Amino acid sequence: MGKSYTSYGDRGFSQFLRRAFNRHLGYNEEDFDKPIIGICNTFSEINRCHAHIGPLIEAIKRGVIMAGGLPLEFPTISLGEINTSPTTMLYRNLAAMDTEEMIRAQPIDGVVLMGGCDKVTPAQLMGAASADIPAILFTGGPMANGEYEGRTLGACSDCRYFWQEYRGGSVSEEELIKINEALAPTAGHCMVMGSASTMAVCSEALGLMLPGAAAIPATHNKRLAAAQETGKQIVEAVRQGLKPSKLLTRRSFENAIRLLMAVGGSSNAVIHLTAIAGRLGIELPIRLFDELSRTTPFLANLRPAGTYQMEDLFRAGGAPAVLKELAPLLHLEELTITGRTIGESLQSVTISETYRDIIRPYGDPLHQEGGIAILHGNLAPNGAVIKTKAASRSLLSHRGKAVVFTSVSDLEARINDPELQVAPEDILVLQNAGPVGAPGMPEAGMLPIPEKLLKQGVRDMVRISDARMSGTAFGTVVLHVTPEAAVGGMIALVRTGDEIELDVERRSLQLLVSEEELARRRSEWTPLKITGRGYTRLYQEHVLQADKGCDFDFLLPDEPEHK
Ligand code: FES
Repeated sequence: MGKSYTSYGDRGFSQFLRRAFNRHLGYNEEDFDKPIIGICNTFSEINRCHAHIGPLIEAIKRGVIMAGGLPLEFPTISLGEINTSPTTMLYRNLAAMDTEEMIRAQPIDGVVLMGGCDKVTPAQLMGAASADIPAILFTGGPMANGEYEGRTLGACSDCRYFWQEYRGGSVSEEELIKINEALAPTAGHCMVMGSASTMAVCSEALGLMLPGAAAIPATHNKRLAAAQETGKQIVEAVRQGLKPSKLLTRRSFENAIRLLMAVGGSSNAVIHLTAIAGRLGIELPIRLFDELSRTTPFLANLRPAGTYQMEDLFRAGGAPAVLKELAPLLHLEELTITGRTIGESLQSVTISETYRDIIRPYGDPLHQEGGIAILHGNLAPNGAVIKTKAASRSLLSHRGKAVVFTSVSDLEARINDPELQVAPEDILVLQNAGPVGAPGMPEAGMLPIPEKLLKQGVRDMVRISDARMSGTAFGTVVLHVTPEAAVGGMIALVRTGDEIELDVERRSLQLLVSEEELARRRSEWTPLKITGRGYTRLYQEHVLQADKGCDFDFLLPDEPEHK
């Protein structure tokens, strides 16, 4: 059973034992000669985005059996965004290691990655890329739209929006409770184009998920049908030897980045795609994201940057419909897990004119450029990210005085202090919230607007940090400032009252302080002393910066392959 052996110093004995012990499921001798398909089961009641995946796994198994394979599910870590402290990003690499090592350790020929919530999908793709046996991703799918008083609700853009309105005094406590009840109405992951939806559609562009699977709502019959197809396809992929290293190339990542820009996807995808590519030695320089964003039309009218949500995208044709429009910009010869090229898969895709407000034509986009810009300057020598289409246009070119918070806890302690000296035109700066500093680079980058300004009607300000923000968040928020404060990045040297200039058109982020003064501050700066134990210590000692994907240095391949 399987091509591997348990190390007893006797391979024949290893196989003998496996056959004896694996009769526990009632399988016969000849069953173990079939392609053995592992299914990474990330079910968890604590991770609500995966709580419904049992029937989907059963459907995947049916598909595997129909195609002549033998399914064996096994558990891997499940990361739910909302309930995990201090942030799921701290554990993405742990989940990737779990996934990789379990795939490697089990006697399996191919694997179905059952993903969904934000960090699970990238972790699984990182692990599968390193394990490099035929792998296919399937997700739990997005929730159906929420609704309150005739208004469509989206988790969790509206969680943030209505919380802010409540703090600003325009929504009552009573209303807030009713909205809270309606925000996440069904099983599934967040239904706006947040990180979960973004990584799911990008997986289609990478060729690792069946075409159209990403947008099917979690509770739709078609998701069960797609699960069954996924089970069938992984058996075929094993027969054809379609390993991740055959499908994931520099060109397939460029396809995924094009799609990311065209759907106004999550800023987190910049980190995740870089990390997945890094596992195969493929470098995605951060400037590539900007280059492709500038030359990719913004086509999908999806929240938080647009109007609609995932169930609307599903009706309009899902990711294949967006890819069809993008076809002139794609590498259509890239192979996918179906055994066909992406171009061949797109041949049969048609787009109904009924849904043209959801997916714009290539020649008539919502915006000429994609949804994410990469900034550089003395404040971010190795780059920073801004989700331009979820920002206020009036703030994209802005000069203001910094109001600095030195950590997430400092922010929590002072942001709503009535004595805080802050004006609407100031720039809120958060330090020490990066991968090493926080640690784990939490989603604190959408700093709350100070309560006293909210009550004056202020709803957006320029905010800058070395943190991330949720893919569902919005505002003029500059994220992933690299290098981060904790490793001596320039952001560590910003002081309250300093002038900062943001110019998105020029892709520039400058701290307007003299070289002499900065040198003086640097001489006083002391590096973060890493204390503590266990996984968090391992994380802080080995995590790479955001422009390198925040993977661990020891998880990259020894020999980069420049594909
Ligand atoms: Fe799981 Fe949003 S909380 S995707």
